[in-house]
Amino acid sequence: MTNLLDKETDFSSMIDARLSRRRFLMGTAAVGAGAFLAVNPVAKAVAASMDSKLLNFTQIPASTSDTIVVPKGYSTSNLISWGDPIFPGAPAFNPNGKQDAKTQAMQFGDNTDGMSIFPLSKDRAIMAINNEYTNYQFLFDHQGKAMTADDVKKAQAAHGNTIVEIVRKDGKWSIDKNGKANRRITANTEMMMTGPAAGDDLLKTKADPTGTKVLGTINNCANGETPWGTYLTCEENFNGLFGSDEAVALDDNFKRYGIKTDGNKYQWHPTDKRFDLAVNPQEANRFGWVVEIDPKDPTSTPLKRTALGRFKHENAAVVINDDGHVVIYLGDDERGEHLYKFVSKNKYQEGNNAANRELLEGGTLYVAKFAMHADKLEGNGEWIELTYGKNGLTKENGFNSQAEILIFARKAATQVGATTMDRPEWVAVHPDKKHVFCTLTNNKNRGVKEGQDVDGVNPRAENHYGQIVRWMPSNVDHTSASFKWDLYLIAGNPTVHQGDLYAGSANINKDNMFNSPDGLGFDKAGRLWIQTDGDFSNQGDFAGQGNNQMLCGDPETGEVRRFLTGPIGSEVTGLTFSEDQKTMFVGIQHPTGHFPAGGDSKPRSTIVMITKDDGGVIGS
Ligand code: FEO
Ligand code: CA
Ligand code: CA
Ligand code: CA
Repeated sequence: MTNLLDKETDFSSMIDARLSRRRFLMGTAAVGAGAFLAVNPVAKAVAASMDSKLLNFTQIPASTSDTIVVPKGYSTSNLISWGDPIFPGAPAFNPNGKQDAKTQAMQFGDNTDGMSIFPLSKDRAIMAINNEYTNYQFLFDHQGKAMTADDVKKAQAAHGNTIVEIVRKDGKWSIDKNGKANRRITANTEMMMTGPAAGDDLLKTKADPTGTKVLGTINNCANGETPWGTYLTCEENFNGLFGSDEAVALDDNFKRYGIKTDGNKYQWHPTDKRFDLAVNPQEANRFGWVVEIDPKDPTSTPLKRTALGRFKHENAAVVINDDGHVVIYLGDDERGEHLYKFVSKNKYQEGNNAANRELLEGGTLYVAKFAMHADKLEGNGEWIELTYGKNGLTKENGFNSQAEILIFARKAATQVGATTMDRPEWVAVHPDKKHVFCTLTNNKNRGVKEGQDVDGVNPRAENHYGQIVRWMPSNVDHTSASFKWDLYLIAGNPTVHQGDLYAGSANINKDNMFNSPDGLGFDKAGRLWIQTDGDFSNQGDFAGQGNNQMLCGDPETGEVRRFLTGPIGSEVTGLTFSEDQKTMFVGIQHPTGHFPAGGDSKPRSTIVMITKDDGGVIGS
């Protein structure tokens, strides 16, 4: 295969690629004339000719300051920070690091990430929020160096989800501590395993011989929401919480998920044997799932949906296909892992939520294979079914049941020849349902490790900038087995690199450049909001890119403008809007300076609210 990055490469082939890409896109309904402003991916900035009708704000410069910056005409305020009480009588946040587990369980969890809003009325809504993991250096006065059993319980209470009602008064939202839906879900909340793998021997433990009752959800990264009013929370880096002080022989099924005994920095396993691999190895099989939660009923049992497969789930992008099937796109965020799609067995029935609540119980899981063209940044692709007995998923190849395929979905994906990707993070479906986008955040192993050769969709070796792939399901049918794809953008640094793909695609220039796209979501008007979780050193390959940030892309013209810059050390992750799109909620995760209170205060993960000073729709 031609290496696009070979110094000897004749760029005319890449220009050809762009030309044919342009032809290809011009032929699709959603992309209008003038969609591509430049045909050369290494061309200089094209800002002068960028005149998006969708993006109506003035781009801001990169920043290294310890504040949030938004464009002129916009303001920010804070909704909730780690440790804020969410129930009447819950203690206020205390920065001394000595508050106990019980207190943390009545407060907002740590490391805010994906979130969804469920409107109750014009000025009241339920917000469901992921609390991905926790920062020991701030959670404990001993910074995690002397973990007791109570400390582990506190860390477990900082994980999971926060569900809280919010109310709007005088145009400004705030949390309502008296909200009936308010709830904390933690690493110890009772849940049910459901779907084809529930009850399987691989999910049984000493504490749960049924293989169906599990405690808690952890490493809740991003999210999804269903039209029947439920919240989907996705378990990502669960492996990091399992360990052992004893030597345990772990087979490839553990290794593939990064589950190991040594190097565990969270230290849950010494006092909570559930996480000790020598005592309860199969407990690890009960994490790495998508969990469905009814946010309106604080007594409801969260349901782990095994039909959606077990991997390091990023988010769950739900679309109701025109024929009524529920289709969910799912990224597995690990270097060289895969992109998946779930198609429900039954169809969505508007108004029949009793039936709709069963839709994620069963269906078919697929994994993506991108057809490569050696010198092109576009192509065809197919979805390969991960069903027992099909595509080599047989006993002879070591697969014994559908449950096993779902529990070890990564192994099944390898068996069917799925494309190894540059860390699939969020997927977002355009409101017109014709295009789907996925952030491929970065991958230092590309072109370095076996099985991760440079290819069209992952076109750079040692890719530390990331790209966004876009695909169009055949016949605008999300259940279709085939699709066409191209790259919406290739992040890069045109001030450091010239003449190769590390400069980025034509829609990246010195004024809007960034690295490591991660969070992704559309607003109702079809603006594509892009959040970053990357290198904020502002040096070397990243010079001029500043802190993590949020940008906004026009899917038709390709233009991308920087909308927000985060405070020092933070990742910008998680976004949702009020129903009228006049308030945008954005997560600021793991700041390390003094955000949000400033001075010499302790940094706290925080959800910020952005409003337009004229009261208009964000981005309009
Ligand atoms: Fe939690 Fe892949 O980000
Ligand atoms: Ca992420
Ligand atoms: Ca990330
Ligand atoms: Ca994160």
